[in-house]
Amino acid sequence: MKVLVIGGGAREHALCRSLSLDPDVNALYCAPGNAGIAEVAELRPVDALDGEAVARLATELRADLVVVGPEAPLVAGVADAVRAAGIPVFGPSGEAAQLEGSKAFAKDVMAAAGVPTARSYVCTTPEEVDAALDAFGAPYVVKDDGLAAGKGVVVTDDRAAARAHALGCDRVVIEEFLDGPEVSLFAITDGVTVLPLQPAQDFKRALDGDEGPNTGGMGAYSPLPWADPKLVDEVMASVLQPTVDELRHRGTPFSGLLYAGLAITSRGVRVIEFNARFGDPETQVVLARLQTPLASVLLNSANGTLHALPPLSWREDAAVTVVIASHNYPETPRTGDPIEGLAEVAELDAPHAYVLHAGTRREGDAVVSAGGRVLSVTATGSDLAQARTRAYKAVERIRLDGSQYRTDIAAKAAEGR
Ligand code: AMP
Ligand code: GLY
Repeated sequence: MKVLVIGGGAREHALCRSLSLDPDVNALYCAPGNAGIAEVAELRPVDALDGEAVARLATELRADLVVVGPEAPLVAGVADAVRAAGIPVFGPSGEAAQLEGSKAFAKDVMAAAGVPTARSYVCTTPEEVDAALDAFGAPYVVKDDGLAAGKGVVVTDDRAAARAHALGCDRVVIEEFLDGPEVSLFAITDGVTVLPLQPAQDFKRALDGDEGPNTGGMGAYSPLPWADPKLVDEVMASVLQPTVDELRHRGTPFSGLLYAGLAITSRGVRVIEFNARFGDPETQVVLARLQTPLASVLLNSANGTLHALPPLSWREDAAVTVVIASHNYPETPRTGDPIEGLAEVAELDAPHAYVLHAGTRREGDAVVSAGGRVLSVTATGSDLAQARTRAYKAVERIRLDGSQYRTDIAAKAAEGR
């Protein structure tokens, strides 16, 4: 099978790594990719937001499957253009991707499907903002309605800061604060059948101890030893299947990856957000544990034949990933700094630890930083403690001027807290 992956972050590197290990895949392309992905796939330049260009590239490569990684191309309708060219594509239509593209749309779908989520108001005027802030009180949760790469959400006790963020958005969702640990649960679906993956936990804040601003995600681990073993079944029944059914009944079936960001509150599971694609960095740890070859799973989603797939199998291993971010991430990340130590990790830590590239590019013989999140250092082990030790050992070999990473990824879970 010839597979073309669209995107160029650590999630796409993790996808390409798994696809490159799949015996069914005999040609693997990534567009536009990054310096790390170039080691497992052939890179092609493309404007990932241009559906016609992506469809042309897929046709030219005679791809049997196109996998669209990031949300922006999905919301822009890139999967629709590829489907229209007659090529199977993993990823939802632009309309169905509104589940991620508009928080107000997601709330509407959840209300119709009876999916538990935070109570919320959609506001467009300062009067509505004030009324919503006062209705819920502190801590205030204020979300830009549109796509914001994980940075459109402000959670604060400071009413003035909450109000200022709200007034800076065209349309804003203000909602009830949800207390409790967060879980990311992914499901692969073809619009009818829903196949849940293993849960993971992401670390959204920039600094240790969950301090600092929200980011795209600074690290992740899986499995979750502290979670109720019935969690996946419960979320399937209360969240994933009803959401997929609701979108199908609306005439906008969702196929691809449905990402449920959940809060485990004292009153039960609540949806914080949906995403329409694999999460980053959670994908790095979930795919590290998936034993079933990936390509046929994605192709069956694209073709609407997931019901025919045998159950997924998982390794006993635990996985941890630690994101190395550039100087000043997430505010004004600096790029263009050389990265050293990659060869040492490959030589000394493989196969248990490896580096997935997020924002990198090649400059002559050097690999340099090219984004806010630069690398996602991933490791497996017999338990979280071992995976964590291996991941941090590899992280310490990497040298990138001004870079930062959290030192507490999976720490509590590894200690059984
Ligand atoms: P989102 O982009 O919706 O995932 O929000 C980013 C992060 O903000 C989440 O991972 C949570 O940590 C936090 N957050 C979002 N909504 C809420 C909420 N209703 N209550 C508490 N925290 C929230
Ligand atoms: N890790 C959060 C996300 O992918 O949106």
